[in-house]
Amino acid sequence: MRIAMIGAGYVGLVSGACFAEFGVDVHVVDNDADKVAALRDGRIPIYEPGLDRLVEDNVRDGRLHFTTSLHEAVRGADAVFLAVGTPTRRGDGHADLSYVYAAAEQVARAAEGPLVLVTKSTVPVGTGREVQRIVREARPELDIQVASNPEFLREGSAIGDFMRPDRVVIGVEDARAEAVLRRLYRPLNLIETPIVATGIETAELTKYAANAFLAVKISFINQIADLCERVGADVHDVSKGMGLDGRIGRKFLHPGPGFGGSCFPKDTLALSRTAEQHGAPMSIVDATVRYNDDRKLVMAERVIAALGGNAVGKVVAVLGLTFKPETDDMREAASLAVVPRLVEAGATVRAFDPQGSGHARQMMPAGVEFPDSAMAAVRGADAVVLLTEWNEFRAIPPEKLRDAMRGDAVLDLRNAWEPAAMRQAGLRYQSIGRP
Ligand code: UDX
Repeated sequence: MRIAMIGAGYVGLVSGACFAEFGVDVHVVDNDADKVAALRDGRIPIYEPGLDRLVEDNVRDGRLHFTTSLHEAVRGADAVFLAVGTPTRRGDGHADLSYVYAAAEQVARAAEGPLVLVTKSTVPVGTGREVQRIVREARPELDIQVASNPEFLREGSAIGDFMRPDRVVIGVEDARAEAVLRRLYRPLNLIETPIVATGIETAELTKYAANAFLAVKISFINQIADLCERVGADVHDVSKGMGLDGRIGRKFLHPGPGFGGSCFPKDTLALSRTAEQHGAPMSIVDATVRYNDDRKLVMAERVIAALGGNAVGKVVAVLGLTFKPETDDMREAASLAVVPRLVEAGATVRAFDPQGSGHARQMMPAGVEFPDSAMAAVRGADAVVLLTEWNEFRAIPPEKLRDAMRGDAVLDLRNAWEPAAMRQAGLRYQSIGRP
């Protein structure tokens, strides 16, 4: 089997490397020549545990190739995957599909024989149909079948998610397309992975439904945490007591400063727009989008309140900037709302992240300092705010925090520390939804 993967971004790289590991001959295309050169040299532009090894091994074994030539990659491919970006369009919150459509047309023009064109990028319902129209118009004489195969990869555990998925969803309209996709995923038969084969629109919607449901679940537990704080209840016990009900499930019930990342914020917004457009508004998703955006700002206000209502001249140490641990990804991270608000309120912010500081420097307001360790950030701080639950922060003993700080306010927005130990050390400790 030979495939082309259009786009060496997060999804394209991980999926490409994993298919190569399955024994497929994979050609990954990107129009960024520097990126392609780096990848050929074994330098991976993103941080994802295990990806460097996987790329190195498969390049060495001749199954994984990187090129800037779409033509070269598409030639002889049984399937071509579109894994280009679908950012939120400025102004209206819809997904911007211009990259998907442009790539689809280029693939059609480059095709030399029948192939299956698969959208892997998360695309709104109806995109597959439009891709089909584009390729038919470009190459009416060729048998190009369009399919949808959404990914459900989490950053930080993307390779495991690809190799041992809960399910694979394929949206197809034709037996050949289905056979090609089933063959590509055949190694998963060994671990009896369910394959949900369905129509194209259904597959597209399934991805949004899954992501939006998880986002709603997180917002739900965040609102329960707000209520816990008012009534003196413990959100972790509520979440355990709820989650043990098999119909609810224990995962994604961890409260925090609001979800971020490249998927949930973008996908909830896009689903909400699509639903509205089709006259079936999803008020639950709408409310989640609004609440989550507000929540990040509410977290900043919490920090200011802990500083006595006035942040002017105060030093705040922010631990963790990425949207979650084990990634260098800053997209839609809570830190992007919290830090600017603290700076605006007059605080001096010293931020540290084990992987994200490089990206953060470009995204944070002027004046934010980036010391090179957590303890360097904490030294002399009036307040410490934990925004991302990296393991190295969990391991900091409360006494060490206390001795290094100037003030005593600790805001643990991920519930990574033990309330009793923090209070014993004499710190004014606040977490989320715990008495
Ligand atoms: C997500 C989906 O899980 C994945 O299936 C999809 O393909 C892409 O989007 P990812 O964005 O990598 O993956 O991160 P995920 O681990 O799902 O976390 C998303 C955000 O939710 C993070 O900001 C995380 O901190 C937050 N979160 C998650 C919580 O606040 N509480 C939880 O219980 C779980």
